[in-house]
Amino acid sequence: MASENILEVRNVTHRYGDFIALKDVTITVPEERLTALIGPNGAGKTTFYNVVSGKYRPSRGSIIFNGVNVTGYSPHKLSLMGLSRSFQITNIFHELTVIENVMIPIALHEGKGFYFWTKYRKDRHLFNEAMKVLSLVGLEDVYARVTRELSYGDRRLVEIAIVLAGKPQLVLLDEPTAGMTPEETEKMVHLIKNLATTTETTFFFTEHDMNVVFSVAEYIYVLHQGELLAQGKPEDIRADPKVREAYLGGSLDT
Ligand SMILES: Nc1ncnc2c1ncn2[C@@H]1O[C@H](COP(=O)(O)OP(=O)(O)O)[C@@H](O)[C@H]1O
Ligand SMILES: [Mg+2]
Repeated sequence: MASENILEVRNVTHRYGDFIALKDVTITVPEERLTALIGPNGAGKTTFYNVVSGKYRPSRGSIIFNGVNVTGYSPHKLSLMGLSRSFQITNIFHELTVIENVMIPIALHEGKGFYFWTKYRKDRHLFNEAMKVLSLVGLEDVYARVTRELSYGDRRLVEIAIVLAGKPQLVLLDEPTAGMTPEETEKMVHLIKNLATTTETTFFFTEHDMNVVFSVAEYIYVLHQGELLAQGKPEDIRADPKVREAYLGGSLDT
């Protein structure tokens, strides 16, 4: 079904052995709307992302990306189609400079292999393209720094830049603010909001802290114990007694 929805997840159930981590979850992400998936720790958010990004095949249900049924496609195939997820900091080459970390995925995206990297290092076009991506995330001033030397928050921004380098249509960000200080969190959340409005990429992110989401997300889905508990605009979610109870029922700092 072709539609303006970039992602439709239909009736997805996922089991780990006997444990049901996702139960009949249906979620729609329209293009150009900043959508968030929230829920306390253990709600199933990461499982959901692993299923949508192709790491796991769902036990039941289907994933429709841009009108195409992509259930069971590999992460690599999905990323070539324009559906990318952040791979956490492990994807970064810490000993390379910030700009080199972005030049590599651009070279790969343009079909230039990895092999002649020493040559691409001097490639002006790659450099300029990478600088454009770095300026989107506000890292242009530290482009020549060795990535290892950056703050944790800035390394997470490099991770976002690496994802954006592949010019994706849809980006899944799994707790992009995890482990960040309140200042870094604020910066990251506003960056996501900014990218969602200034680029043609659609963002769908998870977050366990609901307060972080309310200021930026336009539409929110709430997962609780593997099931969709609520969905709606931030103001509706904030006022929903079911949502409050789900959060307060767990530990207060989740
Ligand atoms: N690979 C796995 N094998 C078995 N159980 C898992 C696995 N990954 C996650 N779980 C369980 O599934 C539930 C949801 O986990 P997860 O998707 O990581 O939640 P969240 O990201 O919302 O914190 C948790 O109870 C977790 O222990
Ligand atoms: Mg998680």
